[in-house]
Amino acid sequence: MDFRTQTASLDALAGVTADALIVVLGGEALPANLDATLSALVKDAIKLGDFEFKAGKTLLLQRAAGVKAPRLVLAAAGKSSLKAARAALQAALGQLKGRGAAHAAVAFAGFEGAEETVESLAEQFVLGAEDTAYVYRHTKPSAPAAAKLVKLTLLVDKDDAAEVKKGLARGQAIAAGVELARECANRPGNYATPSYLAEQTKALVKSHGIKVEVLDQKAVEKLGMGSFLAVARGSDEPLRFIVARYEGAAKTQAPVVLVGKGITFDSGGISLKPGAAMDEMKFDMGGAASVLGTLRAVAELKPKLNLVVIIAACENMPNGRAVKPGDVVTSMSGQTIEILNTDAEGRLILCDALTYAERFKPAVVVDVATLTGACVIALGGVRSGMYASDDELAAALTAAGETALDPCWRLPLDEEYEEGLKSNFADVANVGGREGGSITAAKFLQRFAGKYRWAHLDIAGTAWKGGAAKGGTGRPVGLLTHFVLSQAR
Ligand code: BES
Ligand code: MN
Ligand code: ZN
Repeated sequence: MDFRTQTASLDALAGVTADALIVVLGGEALPANLDATLSALVKDAIKLGDFEFKAGKTLLLQRAAGVKAPRLVLAAAGKSSLKAARAALQAALGQLKGRGAAHAAVAFAGFEGAEETVESLAEQFVLGAEDTAYVYRHTKPSAPAAAKLVKLTLLVDKDDAAEVKKGLARGQAIAAGVELARECANRPGNYATPSYLAEQTKALVKSHGIKVEVLDQKAVEKLGMGSFLAVARGSDEPLRFIVARYEGAAKTQAPVVLVGKGITFDSGGISLKPGAAMDEMKFDMGGAASVLGTLRAVAELKPKLNLVVIIAACENMPNGRAVKPGDVVTSMSGQTIEILNTDAEGRLILCDALTYAERFKPAVVVDVATLTGACVIALGGVRSGMYASDDELAAALTAAGETALDPCWRLPLDEEYEEGLKSNFADVANVGGREGGSITAAKFLQRFAGKYRWAHLDIAGTAWKGGAAKGGTGRPVGLLTHFVLSQAR
């Protein structure tokens, strides 16, 4: 989609030229500075009972008297928040779906706030629009043709131009990252294999100047990643260990490291999952997809920092050579692990990736994984679960999630939660009990992340949606991109 800006004052919107004029109205009353013609139209619509200042309310008017644009869409946000603005924009764009408008001009009225809000509003303008426009077609070319709407102009106050420009650029970079993540996640397991993820990463070498190294089974054996290998061995599909680097600062500057879980299909292994909704386990590489998307966004925005992205990718399958409950494996860290449940495979591949990360002497490591069903029960699809080894890091991730409208919620790491991971036959077991399942998984990972500042995001509830809107969400690319940008000095 083509995004532009145009200077237009709120009191002169009726004269704006476009196929459609969208006016997103924040708050619960008419903004005082709104164009007189539009104000009269809004008041009349309210009087007729066709419009209200209530979130979700929209009204499409054609050839409204005194309005230059042939279509006028009013969209109420109900509040003046960023989240409400984005939702109202998306509702307004929904009104134009299947209609003839190719170019829409968008104004936000009643959202006056801090400077930062204008920048975030511009960012969400792009993200909201791209999110609405996204259609998965790779294995469904018959999917309805992309919308007619191809050009969106954000109408801005001239004093805000600089902030808006920054917001648009950030929005476009994040949108590209989100799209990459969604495309990877939505690809069926027989398309999005570990090798496919490696190819997608390599594609960023040419387009974004990223450095990529892809390790195969032999290289992973040499590194002693016994835990990762144990998961991969149950499948005929070859594993890949992907390391990508964005260098935006001196080599001596400690990098931010992102680690993604790249299980391209999780059958559960010998601890086989029940059949219902098992197809959704193609999304079990959502962590990998999101760190890849973040890498793309960051490489586009070029902050002055170093970023390393690590993806451990394989399938979790139950062939005759598959790892069995009770097997003990030796991780790269030297710790032995009793695999009591082969379906708790995410932590088994991540622990070796976390040990590998030590070699970068990282400033901070954040791993991202669709790790536990327990996290879905705890937080649903609204907030990702977040764990952090220190408060400052937790605060940075929380803040990044809030500004990106991609929120997370911190969960605890008390040592008592590690009780259940005790084993009579190894240093640690790969599962605790059913209780606090997301937390015990994090406690397992923490054992391998002691040498640096570390955080873990459990995105099992947020990486994809089920039901009629089944598909990858591209989360938490927004959160991660904002977080990485916040780490630049
Ligand atoms: N990929 C799943 C987690 C998952 C389950 C994500 C459902 C989203 C929806 C993970 O590998 C897994 O199977 N975890 C087990 C762990 C258990 C065996 C301790 C789980 O959550 O059931
Ligand atoms: Mn599993
Ligand atoms: Zn899994």
